[in-house]
Amino acid sequence: MRTTVLAVPVMLVGLVRNLPAQTPSKGVDPPKPAAVTMQVQTDLNRLMRGVLYPASNVVFSAQTDNPGDVKFVPGKDPSLATDPLESTFGGWQAVENAALALTESANLLLIPGRKCANGLPVPIDNPDWSRFVQELRDAGIKAYQLAQSKDQDKMVEAADILSAACAGCHRKWREKPRLADRCK
Ligand code: HEC
Repeated sequence: MRTTVLAVPVMLVGLVRNLPAQTPSKGVDPPKPAAVTMQVQTDLNRLMRGVLYPASNVVFSAQTDNPGDVKFVPGKDPSLATDPLESTFGGWQAVENAALALTESANLLLIPGRKCANGLPVPIDNPDWSRFVQELRDAGIKAYQLAQSKDQDKMVEAADILSAACAGCHRKWREKPRLADRCK
């Protein structure tokens, strides 16, 4: 708290000092920011490992560990917690947030240009792909709603719906004896 209070006047002084230099001279248009577009930075496998897998584990864990437990009350330094359940936004809120992250991750599964780890394009034009992505989105929303009830029994239902949404798509595109046959 003390540092915040001290930092504000310093920042204000800095702003005032810098103001004249940043004001564009009359008649000159300020430079336009470059248009930012959607970009694909990783393959589907890494997206699954980095975003969907950890978020779904937070939802799944709520079946066995009650997020309302006192052990999930933010600990000594919750801002540094690597377990979302023990973080500043921990407990049931972490479960809600993980469910929302999964819901939003459906959009990432629809961005054109992503490849699977074997180099094949993610089959986003296949109607079954759209269907499975929508199932994931619906499962995320449902898990979010169920987490809001803060009722652990309901998380069994949430986990069932979610894992079915993952498994449907995996059966069709992931579970292949050869990596080369994924995403075909
Ligand atoms: C719309 C289809 C789809 C949905 C929905 C989906 N996945 Fe995947 N997932 C895939 C495909 C395809 C692969 C293989 C990707 C590759 O090889 O590049 C994959 C790979 C993975 C992997 C990496 C496996 C490995 O071999 O390293 C994990 C982990 C994973 N998914 C977790 C999940 C979880 C958890 C969910 C649900 C919350 C989910 N996925 C939902 C299609 C999907």
